[in-house]
Amino acid sequence: MSSLPNFTTMFSLEGKTALVTGGSRGLGLHMATAFLLAGCSLVVVTARKWDGEQGIKQAVDKLNALPNIRGKAVGVAANVADSQDIVRLADEVKKLVGSRGLNILVCNAGAAWGSKFEDAPPSSSVKILDLNVRGVFELVQKSLPLLSAAGTMQDPARVLIISSTAGLNVPHVGEHGTIMYSASKAAANHLGRNLAVELGPRHITSNIIAPGFFPSKLAQGLISNLGGIEGLSKDNPLGRLGEPEDIAGVALFLCSPAGKYVNGVDISVDGGARLAAGRLSRL
Ligand SMILES: NC(=O)c1ccc[n+]([C@@H]2O[C@H](COP(=O)([O-])OP(=O)(O)OC[C@H]3O[C@@H](n4cnc5c(N)ncnc54)[C@H](OP(=O)(O)O)[C@@H]3O)[C@@H](O)[C@H]2O)c1
Repeated sequence: MSSLPNFTTMFSLEGKTALVTGGSRGLGLHMATAFLLAGCSLVVVTARKWDGEQGIKQAVDKLNALPNIRGKAVGVAANVADSQDIVRLADEVKKLVGSRGLNILVCNAGAAWGSKFEDAPPSSSVKILDLNVRGVFELVQKSLPLLSAAGTMQDPARVLIISSTAGLNVPHVGEHGTIMYSASKAAANHLGRNLAVELGPRHITSNIIAPGFFPSKLAQGLISNLGGIEGLSKDNPLGRLGEPEDIAGVALFLCSPAGKYVNGVDISVDGGARLAAGRLSRL
């Protein structure tokens, strides 16, 4: 007979600390919500804007109003494409987590660009690569002491990189091409695999979540250019786009005891759409 003595806490994040970049809205806010509901004692959310409908403040207020949570959310404004801001963010997080260290780092903030190949200016490539690749590398690097302080052999700290299925296939070329975005996400995937091997011996796992389409500010332009939610849903094997619980569930698995021996994988959360040819790969 098999015994699973820790089964009841397999998906618990009781007492854990987390930092979620791009946590003010969209996928980052869905994951921050899941972490608090699963028992995190502290979830730090970061983004650039503090005020306004999509700022950090409203997100922190929403998170702290979640029912039955014992932990709390704290906001820190920072640009995670900027080297100095990344150092400052890591210092702020150090003050907040103290001797607990940082159990979970989610590198989720991302930028996209869609245009004809000929029209993409150099600034679009710089913006995308700085945020989606270099910023991720530097944030993990500067957070290393905090992650090392939290991770153990039996319960490693977790790095999640939110990439995209655009890093696995060639999704959009032509009029609304996202070539550099796609290349940046492929780089983010391979960064995650390298980190898995580099940081595994230090009791830190690194994994990648590759979402398909989830309605969000970042995705809304592309979704409407490609036929809207209805049109894209028809092209998806499961007949719909991603919903908050789809991303929250996979993030929770990878960050909870259930995912502690998973290192260096990329999990696509797209209903299988990346495997289907058709509208997504049309010119
Ligand atoms: N939604 C999708 O369909 C989809 C599909 C595949 C992959 N993804 C990936 O999922 C991640 C989240 O995307 P999303 O759809 O949730 O986008 P979103 O709703 O537009 O949210 C983006 C978040 O990142 C923050 N952010 C942007 N630039 C930043 C910077 N330089 N420094 C710090 N924070 C920054 C934004 O806040 P501020 O603007 O205030 O900084 C916001 O909190 C991205 O990496 C994206 O590539 C999304």
